[in-house]
Amino acid sequence: MSGKDLNIADIRQEYKLSALDESSAGIDPISFFRKWFSEAENAQITEVNAMTLATADAKGIPHARIVLLKGLENSEFIFFTNYSSSKGREIGENPFASLVFFWKELERQVRIEGKIEKVSATESDIYFNSRPKGSRIGAWASPQSQEITDRDILDVNYARYEQEFSDIEMPRPPHWGGYKIIPNYIEFWQGRASRMHDRITFTKNENGDWRRARLAP
Ligand SMILES: Cc1cc2nc3c(=O)[nH]c(=O)nc-3n(C[C@H](O)[C@H](O)[C@H](O)COP(=O)(O)O)c2cc1C
Repeated sequence: MSGKDLNIADIRQEYKLSALDESSAGIDPISFFRKWFSEAENAQITEVNAMTLATADAKGIPHARIVLLKGLENSEFIFFTNYSSSKGREIGENPFASLVFFWKELERQVRIEGKIEKVSATESDIYFNSRPKGSRIGAWASPQSQEITDRDILDVNYARYEQEFSDIEMPRPPHWGGYKIIPNYIEFWQGRASRMHDRITFTKNENGDWRRARLAP
């Protein structure tokens, strides 16, 4: 492999921190997610709320990128973005998404899959108004995912909106807001020795109840 000079194939981590069993996972994956999330916070993991978001377009071609989890309300995972971005277009074409958290310091991964919908305008307004001013101006100034000729365009746009909203209240841009993933599958992965990892999954059935299972690693 061309990566041989980098010794990529020799990079190997043995996992031995912890174990995951059915009784500790319990019967409610949302409560268990909250437990693992606070353990990750307590472990001082930076950007503990960073997650990979995978979407797929109308042709079924997948696209993945990192976004930040900004809320977990009514069992729904919330993030904010530009609705006119590539991801926004893909979600419009195919309203299913997948999230992945990797908390390497704890040798843990969580995978979440489900339907994706916009949050209410009120909810987006509340979060938008809580952001630092620079980020709010940035949401106006950046035509996210569009090709731009150079960096200057961003600086010019930023200055323009900074001026425009210098003495009037800044509303949320209509193209910016939140999405929520309504999960129907959640998997907790705990690294174990010799690649014999623990994988506990929860799948939602038609009655809305979670069915727990264990998968081979
Ligand atoms: C740590 C990190 C956090 C990010 N958080 C967000 C976010 O919350 N919302 C967002 O729109 N983009 C976020 N991004 C940028 C996205 O990864 C991506 O570049 C951007 O959303 C455009 O993606 P798209 O063209 O697929 O729509 C983040 C990137 C990183 C590395």
